[in-house]
Amino acid sequence: MGFKEAGTCRIHVYLTIAALVVFAGGLHAQPPQGRGGGQPPALPSGPMANEKYKNIQALTNVPADQLDVTMRYVAAAVNMRCIDCHVQEPSGEWSYEKDDKRSKQTARQMMKMVNGINAANYGIQVQCATCHAGHNQPVGLPMAEMLTPEQIAQMTPPARPAGGNPQGAAGFSGGGRGQRAPAPPVDDVIGKYVDAVGGRASLEKLQSLSMTGTVTNRAGQSAGFSIEEKQGKYREARQSTPEASIHGYDGSAGWEQAGTKVSDLTGFPLDQALRLNDAGTALHLKEKYANLQAGGGRPMQINGKDTTVLTGRAGVLTDQFYFDSASGLLLRRVLTTRTPLGQLREQVDYADYRAAGDLKVPFEIKLTTWNVLDTYKVADAKVNVALDDARFSKPK
Ligand code: HEC
Ligand code: HEC
Repeated sequence: MGFKEAGTCRIHVYLTIAALVVFAGGLHAQPPQGRGGGQPPALPSGPMANEKYKNIQALTNVPADQLDVTMRYVAAAVNMRCIDCHVQEPSGEWSYEKDDKRSKQTARQMMKMVNGINAANYGIQVQCATCHAGHNQPVGLPMAEMLTPEQIAQMTPPARPAGGNPQGAAGFSGGGRGQRAPAPPVDDVIGKYVDAVGGRASLEKLQSLSMTGTVTNRAGQSAGFSIEEKQGKYREARQSTPEASIHGYDGSAGWEQAGTKVSDLTGFPLDQALRLNDAGTALHLKEKYANLQAGGGRPMQINGKDTTVLTGRAGVLTDQFYFDSASGLLLRRVLTTRTPLGQLREQVDYADYRAAGDLKVPFEIKLTTWNVLDTYKVADAKVNVALDDARFSKPK
């Protein structure tokens, strides 16, 4: 199945595997690079996928609570939708356990293949995207149009020590190899950022942030948006047609609304929905990531500006903050979520900082993921306007 009618593809797979083996051999010849930090990897806790789900044959080493994000990774890496592999009954219910679709069966073989290569101890970690990224194209636009050359350069997997933690975060080269000046202390970077956006006193007074403007998606469609943030709570509305879409977080639970349909938002999709919930980040970065480190990530310029990087880790997430070395402003955030089959990347770019009250906020925000390229142009930003708590609660 699958391979036999596609001779060229089979050759491609062999070539890719051969290249990977050569690459692994090359790695052995170099002194292993140290990984900074020594943050322990998140250990699986709770039931495994095969204990919770009905038909797990390949992902037997995956914790149940990571199956969802793993499936999102698979869909992203091969540019397919859930429905391309899974059966949705006429009632609308999903029968994820059914093996009726050929692409699901192929994907399972691929998972076994990837497990096999990774278990064989070549000293590298193969991901679905190792072969699929750039070969399959997302519906609509080719991947290359979404990614800037610097993003593509960043996606190249970094060299890893043979036998080292194979699921390390992308782009983190630990001790470094002398190409860049020693990283400044974390506190200096944060201090400079705090000053650049208006200073500690103004940030401490920040109660809420409210922004309105226009968001344009990858297909070039624009819609009005509003974002409201209040002490960790979040509400984002988009006046898209035919119906508005809203999502929110009341401080403990997430929800989304499309037209009149309201549903809960949990897990990874909730994390994703809150990526722009970052008012006052400057003051809370160290609370959020106790293990925050300067450096990590490659020396990189963003729009011609030298950057300084802070890297924080929490469980399967690596969160990198790129600051303009000169002005101290945050230019980019790169979030990498590790799944058992590979890494999901999301990127937020900030530009056009302007005054809002005593603070400076970015008036252009660009959100890039495997399937989203949204550019938010802020027309109006206000700090410390009164926002009723009820706005953040799940609509009845
Ligand atoms: C490229 C094919 C593919 C895509 C796309 C895909 N899946 Fe899967 N999915 C699989 C395979 C293969 C398995 C079984 C894995 C195994 O045998 O260990 C699976 C298993 C599952 C299961 C467990 C079902 C059970 O009870 O055994 C769930 C739930 C699931 N997928 C949800 C999703 C969701 C949600 C999406 C979309 C975000 C998605 N999948 C996208 C291939 C895919
Ligand atoms: C070593 C390279 C390689 C890796 C790694 C790899 N694939 Fe593939 N995959 C291929 C090739 C080549 C084909 C095309 C085979 C064919 O058409 O016969 C393919 C085909 C597929 C297809 C069928 C596509 C279709 O149109 O039906 C799916 C689904 C798939 N892969 C999923 C995955 C998943 C999920 C992973 C990670 C667990 C993965 N692959 C990892 C090389 C790879």
